[in-house]
Amino acid sequence: MLANGIPLLKTADKNGYAQAAFNVNTLEQINAAVEIHEALRAPLFIQGAQLSNAFLGGRADFKKGSIEDIKRGANLLGKYVSKKSEQTDIPMVLHLDHGKSFDVIKACVDGGYTSVMIDGSSLPYDENVALTRKVSDYAHQYDVSVEGELGVIAGVEDHVFSQNSTYTNPLKALDFIKKTKIDSLAVSYGTKHGANKGKNVKLRLQVIVAIKELLLGEGLDVNIVSHGSSTIPSYIVAEINQYGGDISGSGGIPIDQLKRAIKCGVNKINIDSDIRLACTRNMREISYLNLNFYQHDSVSAIFDLLSKYPHDIDPRTFLAPVMPMVTENKTTDKYQDQLNKLINLGTKEIMGSLIVQFGMVGKAPLVKENLEK
Ligand code: G3H
Ligand code: 13P
Ligand code: ZN
Repeated sequence: MLANGIPLLKTADKNGYAQAAFNVNTLEQINAAVEIHEALRAPLFIQGAQLSNAFLGGRADFKKGSIEDIKRGANLLGKYVSKKSEQTDIPMVLHLDHGKSFDVIKACVDGGYTSVMIDGSSLPYDENVALTRKVSDYAHQYDVSVEGELGVIAGVEDHVFSQNSTYTNPLKALDFIKKTKIDSLAVSYGTKHGANKGKNVKLRLQVIVAIKELLLGEGLDVNIVSHGSSTIPSYIVAEINQYGGDISGSGGIPIDQLKRAIKCGVNKINIDSDIRLACTRNMREISYLNLNFYQHDSVSAIFDLLSKYPHDIDPRTFLAPVMPMVTENKTTDKYQDQLNKLINLGTKEIMGSLIVQFGMVGKAPLVKENLEK
């Protein structure tokens, strides 16, 4: 059952849990997502970022992806998710994460995405408003929901983390929501993208409470989104390092902080880095569990990349030699099958645990009821 983001986030808001939104980069990760969400009867919010679309568009060097690659990836994801949604009772959303331009939004709406994020947060305020409103006007014609962003969420490389000045200003958020007609808003309140979020992260929950109160006062039903929310499990980091990786200075958002954020009114929580870590750990671990594994020609190039990039946690770096597996689920032999299974299991390990922690177990029927109303 394919839906836009609105019924999932509204059901989460009304029932006091948060909808996890998981980033994926291969078709098998979508299979894994459906399997674990079905098993736990949880609504499913799948995200593809610009670079994931380029990667799934067939660009092993995804960072250099063009709009044509993104279009190809968006069409592939749109078709694949639509087909999966016909085979399951779980409500499913396909959402563009951090869309940066109108062209990318259009590519994803045309490709069959049911929800989009336009991230104009690095633009001057008026330009962010204008671009976001343009996206709302366009996407809403196709019943596609829209997420905007206000305030700078610190990032791995694009922004320097700032303690005070970049948190979302609640009054500005209200103005932004009124002017842009968005369905949900990503806010900056102390989270950070990537695996190095700091050691003792303390979220500024007042930002969430203030925005929620202002929205309530104005009778506006807009949902709040938490980006950069991976928990960065220390056991996975330790295992990566035990298996030849070299990750230092890592830290995530403690789960109790996320649970408090949910109580304060966060409705959607974005997770990418945790999934990357678990998949990378699995790809490294197999070389220790089965010493001959990477000696087979069909997977040996992956081992070379794992050895060359010990600091990297992005599975896309290591999967470049097996693009047909990534984009078509096509494998050449049992070793590639096993590799794909490791991606599936790493994805499910994270999704399963966070579905439980965020309170999503058994909530798919509630969303379905809302959809049928
Ligand atoms: O929040 C951003 C996501 O982690 C996107 O990652 O652009 O490397 O696909 P990506
Ligand atoms: P993490 O890097 O914390 O997983 O953040 C993911 C995210 O915000 C995707 O939009
Ligand atoms: Zn994000």
